[in-house]
Amino acid sequence: MMKTKILNQNEVAKAAEIIRGGGLVVMPTETVYGLGADAFNPEAIANIFKAKGRPMDNPLIVHIGKIEDLKRVVSEIPETALKLASAFWPGPLTMVLPKAEEIPVQVSAGLSTVAVRYPAHPLAETLILLSGTQIAAPSANLSGSPSPTKLEHVIADMDGRVDAILDGGECEVGLESTVISLVGDKPRLLRPGGVTVEEMEKVIGEIEIDPAVTDKMKEGQTAASPGMKYKHYAPKAKVVIVKGTDEQYVHYVNSKKAKGVGAICYDEDAPKLHVPFFSLGPKADSTAQARNLFSVLRSVDDAGITLAYARCPKIDGVGLAVYNRLIRAAGFEVMALA
Ligand code: TXA
Ligand code: MG
Repeated sequence: MMKTKILNQNEVAKAAEIIRGGGLVVMPTETVYGLGADAFNPEAIANIFKAKGRPMDNPLIVHIGKIEDLKRVVSEIPETALKLASAFWPGPLTMVLPKAEEIPVQVSAGLSTVAVRYPAHPLAETLILLSGTQIAAPSANLSGSPSPTKLEHVIADMDGRVDAILDGGECEVGLESTVISLVGDKPRLLRPGGVTVEEMEKVIGEIEIDPAVTDKMKEGQTAASPGMKYKHYAPKAKVVIVKGTDEQYVHYVNSKKAKGVGAICYDEDAPKLHVPFFSLGPKADSTAQARNLFSVLRSVDDAGITLAYARCPKIDGVGLAVYNRLIRAAGFEVMALA
């Protein structure tokens, strides 16, 4: 029996009422489902951290329903932010900017900055506008699990922990938004996502890539984005990324055939594999791989796989985001055959 109420697309007003009353609503976005509450209500924000089991030092993204509302959330809007907003909002892009005083410290985890995003999902947009406030929301998974991209994932993690779940079907992008910081000397990519570095550089010029995007942080290093330091996107199974040619990958995985061993592969590999496989999509289609990744990670666990050998995504365009999540799921373990 479900404990939490599921609301459909005609019941957004009910969800907005819950937000206004200080409750928690899981909302669909184009990236992943978010666990939302009124961004200006400190008690509601505290409940988000409780429901997820999230460390209090990891700040939340504030979601707005129209570009004009950016000024309610931040204290300064640089030219670069306006350019990015007009090019990519609504969409899978989060900007880190100086925080408005009214945003509670619980949202920013004590930082002087705040992360803001205008999601491109009609239900999220309507929910934000109807609630008459801005909605702070991390991804709607239990802390440490892959972000939810389907209703069934949300139910698995959040049933009984939130006041309502707004059903939006499957999320289109499938990975969390791109996060870019605009508070330093140069724009800095903190997390890759659906809006790519290449696309943003066309609009604002050169972007620095934070080393934590592709590499493991060293002991004692401070994270530009606190979320980077946590073990993230982790299935229960051990994941190892295998670098090599198509043939090398297939040969290696087949040589490891044993109970509990599986493959996180591309469509093209599937017919050649002799172990249970979970395909990310076609080799050349990073967008499909992004959409499928989190679902694949959950399926690997559901199938009882304990050791999964994964293909190494290419690291440009949306592929960089797929690589960033998979390398964390693998705890940075890479097996290089070539
Ligand atoms: O697509 C998304 O971004 C989804 C949907 C729901 O919008 N949300 C999401 O939120 O992924 P979350 O909390 O799972 O990830 C937010 C990331 C974390 O890595 C956090 O550390 C970082 O953004 N972040 C938030 N505020 C920040 C700030 N002020 N400075 C630097 N990083 C920040
Ligand atoms: Mg998250």
